[in-house]
Amino acid sequence: MGKVYYISKNVGLGLLVLGVTALATIIALSAVYHKEKAKNLGSPAGGSSNDTSTSTSTAVPSTTTSASKELWDHFRLPGSIVPVTYNVTLWPRLTPDADGLYIFTGHSVVVFHCVKETDLVIIHSNKLNLTGPGAALRGLGHVTAPAIQKHWFVENTEYLVLQLSRGLAVGATYALHTEFQGELADDLQGFYRSEYEEDGVKKIVAASQMQATFARKAFPCFDEPAMKAVFNITIIHDPSTVALSNGKDIDVADTVIDGIPVKVTKFEPTQKMSTYLLAFIVSDFVSIESRQNHLLIRIWGRKKAINNGQGEYALNVTGPILQFYERYYNASYPLSKSDQVALPDFNAGAMENWGLVTYRETALLYDPLVSSIWIKKRITSIIAHELAHMWFGNLVTLRWWNDLWLNEGFASYVEYLGTDYAEPTWNIRDYIVQYDLHKVFLVDALASSHPLSCPEEEVSDPAQINEMFDSISYSKGAAVLRMLSEFLTEPVFARGLSSYLNTYAFGNTIYTDLWDHLQQAVDNTPGIHIPCSVHDIMNRWTLQMGFPVVTIDTRTGRITQKHFLLDPDSVVERVSQFNYTWFVPIKWMKAGVEQQQYWLLQETDVNSQMRVSGQDWVLANTNVSGYFRVNYDLENWERLLSLLNTNHQALSVINRAQIIDDAFNLVRAKIVNTTLALRTTKYLHKERDYIPWESALRNLRYYIFMFERTEVFGDLQAYLKQRIQPLYEHYRTLTANWTKVLTLHTDVYNHITVIDVACVVGVRDCKEFVKTVYREWMDNPVKNPIQPDLRSTIYCNAIALGGMEEWDFAWRMFQNTTVASEASLLRGAMTCTKLPWLLNKYLGYTLDPNKIRKQDATATIQRIASNIVGLPLVWNFVRDKWSFIYEQYGKGSFSFSGLISGVTRRFSTEFELQELKRFKEDHSEVGFGSATVALEQAIEKITANIKWMADNKDQVWKWLKEELS
Ligand SMILES: *[C@@H]1O[C@H](CO)[C@@H](O)[C@H](O)[C@H]1NC(C)=O
Ligand SMILES: *[C@@H]1O[C@H](CO)[C@@H](O)[C@H](O)[C@H]1NC(C)=O
Ligand SMILES: *[C@@H]1O[C@H](CO)[C@@H](O)[C@H](O)[C@H]1NC(C)=O
Ligand SMILES: *[C@@H]1O[C@H](CO)[C@@H](O)[C@H](O)[C@H]1NC(C)=O
Ligand SMILES: [Zn+2]
Repeated sequence: MGKVYYISKNVGLGLLVLGVTALATIIALSAVYHKEKAKNLGSPAGGSSNDTSTSTSTAVPSTTTSASKELWDHFRLPGSIVPVTYNVTLWPRLTPDADGLYIFTGHSVVVFHCVKETDLVIIHSNKLNLTGPGAALRGLGHVTAPAIQKHWFVENTEYLVLQLSRGLAVGATYALHTEFQGELADDLQGFYRSEYEEDGVKKIVAASQMQATFARKAFPCFDEPAMKAVFNITIIHDPSTVALSNGKDIDVADTVIDGIPVKVTKFEPTQKMSTYLLAFIVSDFVSIESRQNHLLIRIWGRKKAINNGQGEYALNVTGPILQFYERYYNASYPLSKSDQVALPDFNAGAMENWGLVTYRETALLYDPLVSSIWIKKRITSIIAHELAHMWFGNLVTLRWWNDLWLNEGFASYVEYLGTDYAEPTWNIRDYIVQYDLHKVFLVDALASSHPLSCPEEEVSDPAQINEMFDSISYSKGAAVLRMLSEFLTEPVFARGLSSYLNTYAFGNTIYTDLWDHLQQAVDNTPGIHIPCSVHDIMNRWTLQMGFPVVTIDTRTGRITQKHFLLDPDSVVERVSQFNYTWFVPIKWMKAGVEQQQYWLLQETDVNSQMRVSGQDWVLANTNVSGYFRVNYDLENWERLLSLLNTNHQALSVINRAQIIDDAFNLVRAKIVNTTLALRTTKYLHKERDYIPWESALRNLRYYIFMFERTEVFGDLQAYLKQRIQPLYEHYRTLTANWTKVLTLHTDVYNHITVIDVACVVGVRDCKEFVKTVYREWMDNPVKNPIQPDLRSTIYCNAIALGGMEEWDFAWRMFQNTTVASEASLLRGAMTCTKLPWLLNKYLGYTLDPNKIRKQDATATIQRIASNIVGLPLVWNFVRDKWSFIYEQYGKGSFSFSGLISGVTRRFSTEFELQELKRFKEDHSEVGFGSATVALEQAIEKITANIKWMADNKDQVWKWLKEELS
């Protein structure tokens, strides 16, 4: 699944200084998301009924003590019976029934084998009511089935249980028939309903999201990834709609059922697959299609969007990406078609259902006239991510959710390879360092982090399963697999992978199966040497949390590793069998010359090669292929700094970004002092590449937040202005006064950043430019002269520099636009005004769903708080209206905890800490819901901020003053 993770991945990067801090938001968002989901899942399932014709029913209490646990009290299936194939027929009603309820009806047959003696049938079923004849069992072949004595639902573990009159025969095959009814709720889980408006007409779509445990909400099934089966799906639907599922439709017939004219669409049998990858969609969507050899590729979406050409880009990249994976995996695409659908209402970023991938609209639809380059990049990456799963995850599936990191980490890694193939000019492979590695370093450097891999027993209920979907699984998984691929070399990695996929096709595995096949590939390749087995190396990265900082003393050649903790005072409670040491593959260079890879296998070692003198410098972790940070003796740091200042291009773009990011984080961990990190930014006036700039600004943002309300800020601003001014001139020339559209990707990203920063730190010409071009648009609203890539930064800066007129214009445009991404830009830009009364008015709007949609409310409040003028207003507002906000927005909202962390991000005084503590006391009765953890973390972070200010403020100010004089 491409989760919430994706939603904010690239959003707001253009607003580095003024706007939302994308990075912090990603982390906050994904944290809440999981917590929030867990909370919802924990609530008892309603509506299980006993209605049946077969027998009397008993509701069985599910909270028994562990000693007396019945089989149905366990979250894992007992495994006595295993499914082979299903017939499933579903009929979603897109109009409400007499009680105003949207429902679907269905019936299903599952053919299963009995492999262990049992007199129980335990099958997943959640919020389904049995109807008509209910459940019936029959033996296949010459077998007669035992009678069903009674049946009941277990709410807690989400089972339908049948008690049989005698045991099933081991080795025999049976068919269980069920007829059922469920609610087509708008809860985005299982088989659900989504609503949208087109030309003033309300439309209903039936769609599905089964991962991780929601297939059981659509029909009774053995809902575990290892319970693979063949599914024959039939959908009954309104004649004016089209039905889609994993396979191609093989028969569409018009008929009348119960006096209702309907279409019955039958689909080809699926491949043997897991339930969580099933998908059903009924809509009046339309599609565009292409063919690659015999493969049918289609993009589906709302009529307006598709007819407007918004699916073209996705269609164009899908073929090449599939082709790339076929070659990379050395395995052909396993299905007869590839459908991708843009849904107006979708919880995750996207979902890799086999043959029918679902997306948020903003993750699939691209409008070249309106959408920015960031949207395009995001779309390609997400498609590449989901299509990677078609083999890795779908064809071969991990046996259980505890190995989710391998599934998601893998897709998160190879999405860069797939994207790179589709868009070779983007240099996308470099970006994994900033989007995954540096991002997840921040989380994984906390004492509260956790290992990638965890024992199967520790993940059993749906809440625990959902907790697996976090940035450790996605981003650390990706980074660690990339490291593995780099030290094995890509051809060896791909060969092992291909043998793994071909061996286990249509089956299930555990992660060590992949290590085995990679090991075989190593053993079969002469010339590849690793110091010990793939297992032994990888265990240290997957079974213990965190990562090392490797320190190289170039005076002696001594190399040491140490668990890197962002807060050196934090206490690590989790015990590691490896004592927090790793087997570290170190690619490195000496004075610009690539050296042989060195393996650090102990806590400390000496490599005389790394002893250098004179002007020679050592740089370790070239291209940041390793999952670790690097520190050096001060002399080597000096040599690297001087290299940056004299000839920065001697280092790769990634390594420039790495030096900056490592230095700033070593400062936070109190390993080096502040000025060293600041000095890595001095050369930036010569830096034309986006990645190092992004790295610097992301790290400097903390300084900005801390100093923005202090006397230091003037000098910090002046320093930044010195760095950015030459770059601003460079891009102004390159774009012929901002009129020409740039083509080189790094240039496009960077000139967005440049305008953003330049306007904020007061480059005069920048202000004039944004005001003028925005004014042009105001004078002629039907023709927006601002090119899509620059819109986010220009809107925001023009509104910040303007007054009521600029703001009102944005509000009008916000209400008029029909493009979702444009509305979202404008909504964000309106938070940039410096007029307190406008911000206050806007804050009021956020609590009115007719003005700001409920799903956007907390994110908007948070962005107002990231505006320095808005911060005190929001703080008062939140304290004043807490009960109301909590009631209306606290439940089921993803960005809720981001609200607290957003508001308190700049807090750095004892007074503010006390205020926050008082706020916590005052509202302890109402509670904080999903923001509880964020509140605790905020208190911790403010304490750290106070310490940081005491330790660093004078030093930083002194350094800035020296630089400026
Ligand atoms: C289901 O059975 C239980 C226990 O016999 C009973 O309390 C409950 O009312 C029944 N529910 C329905 C919907 O019939
Ligand atoms: C589904 O279709 C396949 C192929 O026709 C068949 O082998 C299988 O038995 C069917 N499943 C059921 C439950 O009948
Ligand atoms: C599944 O459906 C097919 C065709 O609709 C039918 O021939 C077959 O018998 C069904 N399978 C079972 C086990 O009922
Ligand atoms: C299932 O049965 C319960 C109890 O009778 C009822 O409240 C609920 O509405 C039913 N759900 C559906 C979708 O029919
Ligand atoms: Zn995924």
